[in-house]
Amino acid sequence: MCGIVAYIGHQQASPIIIKGLKRLEYRGYDSTGISLYNGAELQTIKTKGKVSDLEAKLQAGEPIQAAIGLGHTRWATHGVPNDVNSHPHTSNSGDLVVVHNGIIENYAALKEELIQRGFTFSSDTDTEVLVNLIEDVQKKEKVKLGKAVQIALTQVVGAYAIVVFDHKKPNELVAARLGSPLAIGIGEGEFFVASDATPFIEYTKNVIYLEEEHLAIIRCDRDITIRKITSDKVIKPYIEELQMSLENIQKGGYDHFMLKEIFEQPQAIRDTLRGRLLSNEGVNVITLSSLREHENKFLKARRILIVACGTSWHAGLVAEYLLEKFTRIPVEVEYASEFRYRDPIIFPDDIIIAISQSGETADTLAAINIAKERGAFVFGVCNVVGSSISRLTDAGCYTHAGPEIGVASTKAFTTQITVLSLLALRLGMVKGTLSRSEYQQHLVELESIPDKVSEILTQEALIKAVATSFKDANNCIYLGRGYNFPVALEGALKLKEISYIHAEGYPAAEMKHGPIALIDEQMPVVVIATKKGHYDKVVSNISEIKSRKGRIIAVVSEGDVRVKELADYCIEIPESLECFTPILTTIPLQLLSYYIAVQRGCSVDQPRNLAKSVTVE
Ligand code: AGP
Repeated sequence: MCGIVAYIGHQQASPIIIKGLKRLEYRGYDSTGISLYNGAELQTIKTKGKVSDLEAKLQAGEPIQAAIGLGHTRWATHGVPNDVNSHPHTSNSGDLVVVHNGIIENYAALKEELIQRGFTFSSDTDTEVLVNLIEDVQKKEKVKLGKAVQIALTQVVGAYAIVVFDHKKPNELVAARLGSPLAIGIGEGEFFVASDATPFIEYTKNVIYLEEEHLAIIRCDRDITIRKITSDKVIKPYIEELQMSLENIQKGGYDHFMLKEIFEQPQAIRDTLRGRLLSNEGVNVITLSSLREHENKFLKARRILIVACGTSWHAGLVAEYLLEKFTRIPVEVEYASEFRYRDPIIFPDDIIIAISQSGETADTLAAINIAKERGAFVFGVCNVVGSSISRLTDAGCYTHAGPEIGVASTKAFTTQITVLSLLALRLGMVKGTLSRSEYQQHLVELESIPDKVSEILTQEALIKAVATSFKDANNCIYLGRGYNFPVALEGALKLKEISYIHAEGYPAAEMKHGPIALIDEQMPVVVIATKKGHYDKVVSNISEIKSRKGRIIAVVSEGDVRVKELADYCIEIPESLECFTPILTTIPLQLLSYYIAVQRGCSVDQPRNLAKSVTVE
């Protein structure tokens, strides 16, 4: 998820674009750039770092008087954050520049073809392939820019929001989208194009939200032309009046980044599966390019040790169940902070999996260094491209959750479990510890998970009401079994870190060994009681709590009857295979902690005493 801003009109483009990019930094902030056309030449300035670094670079040089420009703030997916990989990207001739938000899945194949036709590439990005593909079409088909972009986009697989400028045709911008958002602000003789309306909210209230597969040709001296990319059909622009405030828009209309990120999970999981869970003639396959050359190491591994902290550690616990079930390789999950000082026994044929959203957590970094010093192969699962952990590990997989701004991790957790599920299933299939039919059955189910998450999110109002009954609690217990024991821990952590209510997560059967002493009519108990996963045992655990007057919130499978008779509140979720239930059962717990914290007036996005990335030990 990156931020795009472009301007064509009569004002100075640079200040408008820089201010706009700062407002879009919640979308990505690892590298940035701007291209400005001053009527004669195109100047592009790019830098690793934040928009303020770009601004400083701009101010250090000669001021560029330009009424046309494109800018970008990046959330790296292909190619680490550095000056060369940041946008805008320029075509080989230097005539075309493009800014892009999204992922071109078939960029490697397109790049090969272009190299055959003499194109050269200086960056590792999919975007540089796109701008040269457009140039290639322009040359071959001898068509205008709009047409060339249209033809090029019909060859692209993936998601994009782009703005293209042709130095030879300086009074025009071409914008297009598929899968990533794009808004066009219509001013008096000027136009703004951006990932959302925040960059132009003070200039105009007239906005067109470009629809899927639409392409817009924007010229100051005439109305916007919008065409359907595939059919070339001309579309009448639908101009809306902007209602929302700046802050609102950055949060996508949600009150907090945490709530926005909870609701982004269906798309985040889809983006994490994109290009990895593929269907080939009706047969589903998993392709993890970064795993390919290391698969043998995993298959021959004596053990898999997972190191992480906080929510990522909880994802590691779920991975323990997944990997042991599908690969029969023994797995141990370690708190990185303990692992680093415990003088751990590591064998050269051990595999280490390091999980981190930020990729900058000090304890996890230190644990990786120790493992590497002792000769182990380290595989990373990170969300921030180019982060320290992603660079330190020997190989790895990115979760494509996009920037996670809320301190309480939500979409990073579910996308971590998604990546770890892909890994476990792929290794199980290759190792033969998972039959082809089971493999197919799981892949079909995994593909349905984003929609099931969307279904659960429709119960927001119910969960908000349940939260009202528990907002004044001082303590809370979370219970789960098997794959859902780590989810109980995660639910408790979410409540603790944003509502400041003391909460504990336990394996449900553990209650009898002590915690059940805490149960009385004051104690809320959240129980994960889905049909798949020791259901009968969980029902008896619930009866034990009920008989001691505990107040029960149960997460159950659709159509559940038995738990409904026992629990005070039930939140139903769609059925799924047991190993995927953690991705579903965690959603109601995220919303519950969110609404309890909101109703207690807590600062949900920046809870006290916490930081999004713990870079000190
Ligand atoms: C989770 O909500 C917290 N923000 C925290 O526990 C976090 O998971 C932990 O600090 C690990 O961070 P990482 O995934 O970026 O390494």
